Amino acid sequence: MKFEVGWDGQSRASYAHDLHPRLCGCASDGRGRRGQRESDSLPEHRQEQHGRLNILVNDLLDVSRIESGRVTLSPQALDLREIAEDVIGDILRRSQEENRPMALSLDAPKKLPAVYGDIERVRQILGNLVDNAYHYTPENGTITVSIHSPNGGHEVQVDVTDNGVGIPLDDQTRVFERFYRGEHPLVLATPGTGLGLSIVKEIVEMHKGRIWMKSTGVAGDGSIFSFTLPVYDKQ
Ligand SMILES: Nc1ncnc2c1ncn2[C@@H]1O[C@H](COP(=O)(O)OP(=O)(O)O)[C@@H](O)[C@H]1O
Ligand SMILES: [Mg+2]
Repeated sequence: MKFEVGWDGQSRASYAHDLHPRLCGCASDGRGRRGQRESDSLPEHRQEQHGRLNILVNDLLDVSRIESGRVTLSPQALDLREIAEDVIGDILRRSQEENRPMALSLDAPKKLPAVYGDIERVRQILGNLVDNAYHYTPENGTITVSIHSPNGGHEVQVDVTDNGVGIPLDDQTRVFERFYRGEHPLVLATPGTGLGLSIVKEIVEMHKGRIWMKSTGVAGDGSIFSFTLPVYDKQ
């Protein structure tokens, strides 16, 4: 398979090198698929590969569109609380389906100023952060989405807090880089491309917002991922 995404030759080559283990699944268990017994069910295997490929292709397409300036936003006044309720509902359903209990809650005032954003892209931002919190927190963990409008009220801030594996201090400058993936066993066991946060950062910045994270780096202390979006101005 060949992706023409308009990067320079050098990055393309290193991306290809980087992606291979993720595509074949070797990164997740260190053994790869070749070590499996023949009795393992083929359809399930195919399904999983299909899922991985889908995530990869969608992420790469997003990176490509962003790189070439083809992502155009259709901003409107948005209620972040409503979007957060949807995103939390989706993850709660997944938690039930996967039999992986997780406590998710929303902490937001009833009266929040509307923000100015593209609804699908804002869903993507929050969806990605809550998805990471869900994957990188052992079961029976706690995830909270808090929304508030800090002093001045020109922007709305969203914090996604979990009590999961956290991010080592040395790695924290790299989390928003393309292809960065942590080395904690829970991260290695989760299929992923390491592109999600880099895409989310680009999209937040296209909205003239900011994004950052905090973690003590101690597993169990978790992480807080925060972003802001500008308040909708009626004029
Ligand atoms: N809530 C979180 N808790 C712990 N680690 C996280 C969290 N969110 C992101 N990370 C780390 O940042 C890395 C990059 O995240 P992301 O760009 O979404 O890629 P992916 O999820 O595909 O690995 C993850 O592999 C993980 O190591
Ligand atoms: Mg992710």
